[in-house]
Amino acid sequence: MRNQAPGNASFPSNAFLIERRKQHFLPTAHLYHEQPLHLVKARGVHVWDEAGNRYLDAIGGIICISVGHNHPRIKQKIIEMIESDQIQHTTLLYLSRFSVELAEALLAEAPEGIDRASFTNSGSEANELAFMTARHATGESIVVNLRHGYHGGTSGTLAQCGHHNWRFRAQPSAATASALEPYCYRCPFKQKPESCELECAKNVETTIQTSTHGRIAAMIVEPVMGVGGFITPPADYFAEVTRIVHNYGGKYISDEVQTGAGRCGGSYLLTRELGIDADMITMAKGLGNGAAIGAALMKTADTESLAGKLYFNTFGGDPYQTMQARLALEIIKEENLIANARDMGQRVVDGLKQMQTHHALIGDVRGRGLLLGMELVEDKNTKVHAVKETVALMDRCKEKGLLLGHGGLYGNVLRIAPPLSISAEQVDQMLDIIDRSLFDVGG
Ligand SMILES: Cc1ncc(COP(=O)(O)O)c(C=O)c1O
Repeated sequence: MRNQAPGNASFPSNAFLIERRKQHFLPTAHLYHEQPLHLVKARGVHVWDEAGNRYLDAIGGIICISVGHNHPRIKQKIIEMIESDQIQHTTLLYLSRFSVELAEALLAEAPEGIDRASFTNSGSEANELAFMTARHATGESIVVNLRHGYHGGTSGTLAQCGHHNWRFRAQPSAATASALEPYCYRCPFKQKPESCELECAKNVETTIQTSTHGRIAAMIVEPVMGVGGFITPPADYFAEVTRIVHNYGGKYISDEVQTGAGRCGGSYLLTRELGIDADMITMAKGLGNGAAIGAALMKTADTESLAGKLYFNTFGGDPYQTMQARLALEIIKEENLIANARDMGQRVVDGLKQMQTHHALIGDVRGRGLLLGMELVEDKNTKVHAVKETVALMDRCKEKGLLLGHGGLYGNVLRIAPPLSISAEQVDQMLDIIDRSLFDVGG
C-alpha cells in the first residue's frame, strides 16, 4: 500500500458501488480503468483511493484542478464562510460581492474590448449562452464548428460536436456547419505543417460558402481541442479564421473551457496570449478549481440587443462558486502558476519527445503549457490508432501511482493535465512512470 492517506474513514466496497451504478445509472455513465477507482481524498497534486493508495493526479478530474486539490487558502475561506453562517446560496436577483469581484477580475484578464461577464454552472451552459447571444445580435442562426470539436452535453452544444460517439440518435442538429479540423498530425489535406498554406483555415470560408446561405451567427473553436485529443492548431490559424468569420457577419466564440485559467502557460486566457480576435470567450473547468462554475465573457455591443430579455440561471453566480473562482485566479497570480505551467509543460514535452526516440507507440506529442497530449499509434508510418494500448497504458500508469486521461475520436490520445502547481520532481516522477509503463505495454 503506497503512502497511507490521513484518516481512517470506511467506505463501501468498489464492487458494491459498481453494481449499484449498473443498476441505477444511465448506460452512458462511463468509468476509467479496468479496475475503476474510488477516490476519496485529495491534496495538492495527489489523490488517494479508499484503500489509502496515493496517486499523482495528472488529469485533475478532467482538467478542473488548476491551483491544486484542497488548496489551503480556498479551504480556509470555505470553512470561514460556513462557520460565520455566510449565505450558501443566493441568485443574481440579489447583490453579492463575490460575483462582482469575479467578473471584474476575469475581465481584467480578457482581451481588450471584452467587458461583460455572465456566470453559469458549466461549460455547456456558457456555450449555450454565447450561441444565444450571437444569434440574437446577428439575427442569423448558423454556428460553424470544427470536426473533432466538443463544446458540451446539452442539446445545442451537442449539435456542434464533431465526434459521433458523443451524439445521440434523432437528436436535432439544425443550424450548424462543420469545417475541417486543423489537425497537423493527421492533416485532412495531407499537407505538412512546414509547407502548408493553412488550407484548414481557408476551409472555414469554403464551408460558409457551401453549407450556409452566406451569413452566419458565429463560429465556435477551442484554441486547443480537448476532447478531440489536444489537437493544437498552428498559432497563425486564428488570424485567418477570425477574419473569415467576421467577414461573413459572425461572432467568434473562443471556447476556453479547457485551455483557460492559466493552463496553457502564457496568459490566464490563451485567446489573449495568441492575440485571437474573439468576440466571446467561454470558460469552466479550471476556472473554479473544481467548483461547478462556468463563465461567458462578451463585448457590450454584442449584448445590447439582449436588453428587455431575461436570462436566469438558478445557481449561476452563486457565492461559493464565485468565491472559489476568484480565489483560484488570485492564487494563480500570487504563486506564479502560469509561468510554472509553461516551464513544467516544456519539461513534460522534452521528456516525452525523448521517449519518442525509443518507444514505437508514440506518434505525436502536442499541446500547450500543461494541456498535453501524446497520440499513440500502432505504426508510425500507417498511424493506425493504438486504442487498446492507450487503455492498457493508463492502467499500468495507475498501478504505479499516476492518473492520466485519454481522448481523441478513437480514444488513443493520452491526456496529461496536472494541477498547474506541479513541481519539477513530480514531473520527473510522472515521466518515469510513463516510460516504464510504455515498456510494460510493449511500446
Ligand atoms: C472545450 C469544452 N467546452 C465545453 C465543455 C462542456 O463543459 P461542461 O462539461 O462543464 O458542461 C467541455 C467539457 O469537457 C469542453 O471540453
